Amino acid sequence: MKILGIETSCDECAASVVEDGKNILSNIVATQIDNHKLYNGVVPEIASRLHVEWIKSVVKEATDDSGIDLGSIDGIAVTNRPGLVGSLLVGLSFAKGLALSLNKPYVGVDHIMAHLYAPYLENNIEYPYLGVLVSGGHTIISHVTEFNNMEVLGTTIDDACGEAFDKVAKFYELGYPGGIAIDRLSVEGDSEAFNFPNPSLHKGDHKYDVSYSGLKTAVINQLDQFRNGESEKTKANIAASFQRVAVNILMQRVKRALKDTGLTRVVAGGGVVANSLLRKELLSLKNIEAIIPSMSLCTDNAAMVAGIGYHYLEQGVISDYSLNASSRVPAFRKKYP
Ligand code: KG4
Ligand code: ZN
Repeated sequence: MKILGIETSCDECAASVVEDGKNILSNIVATQIDNHKLYNGVVPEIASRLHVEWIKSVVKEATDDSGIDLGSIDGIAVTNRPGLVGSLLVGLSFAKGLALSLNKPYVGVDHIMAHLYAPYLENNIEYPYLGVLVSGGHTIISHVTEFNNMEVLGTTIDDACGEAFDKVAKFYELGYPGGIAIDRLSVEGDSEAFNFPNPSLHKGDHKYDVSYSGLKTAVINQLDQFRNGESEKTKANIAASFQRVAVNILMQRVKRALKDTGLTRVVAGGGVVANSLLRKELLSLKNIEAIIPSMSLCTDNAAMVAGIGYHYLEQGVISDYSLNASSRVPAFRKKYP
């Protein structure tokens, strides 16, 4: 089965054709980074309007690149949640129109589950595993038992991990997107130079939760010192020290969840998994099989959407034309549909 995937949940306008949930025939990502750079963050209305302008050519490029014509695809998968609603609606409505005109089935998929599916495009992975989703909008540690079934163990109680990277970079004017800028700058810095706070370990119900707002505020408060004539070296030291603590906050919870659940496999996904330190830490977990996607499959793409969509469509799960977009993930700590 050849599935066309469409992804417009945030600022990447993406389309991809994937065969049997595995074989990537094409993977087009048109990024809006340059369009949002000026604002140091994604402006929702600009994002939706650009998706409206770009979606047709992005889908055409994906089908052209795949070597198959649009009429030969077997189905369409599209992200319908979570994300920016205006952006999601563009991809969702386009997918519905296409499905209707081609008389093919379509299915709406969850962006979080799609991120965790990304490593499947490159590896053979068995369930269950500990899912670690770290992106600009979400930080979720979960127990995943099937491609469409996960139980949330922990999540952020305030900012998402990527959001903290982006905000710190914005305040220090390090570049946009912030995560990549901090990662690059950290190489030149001393990660022990600053002792930023790691929130005290949560207990009980919040055992696996993370918090990034305290760290973010502490790092931003350091800015005054930097503005008072500190060197470029200080900037790099701040970036490296922030990155060390940000990764440590997550890794502490990941290690605890692995120990408590007895799971021996961890699968990670989302933009922040492109971070060099996080990748290193995940891959050096002792006696744990860690599977992380290659860089281009960490950040938003439609191959992961087509990949997971295949499994739904293959099982006969088809979305209704009344399906809507949603900004939210389903209720906390419930089984993920
Ligand atoms: O998954 P993604 O492309 O979009 C969302 O679903 O949010 O993730 C984007 C996030 C941004 O916060 C970006 O700064 C972060 O991923 N990111 C990184 C790196 N590359 C991207 N964070 C840390 N280090 C990186 N190398
Ligand atoms: Zn994402």
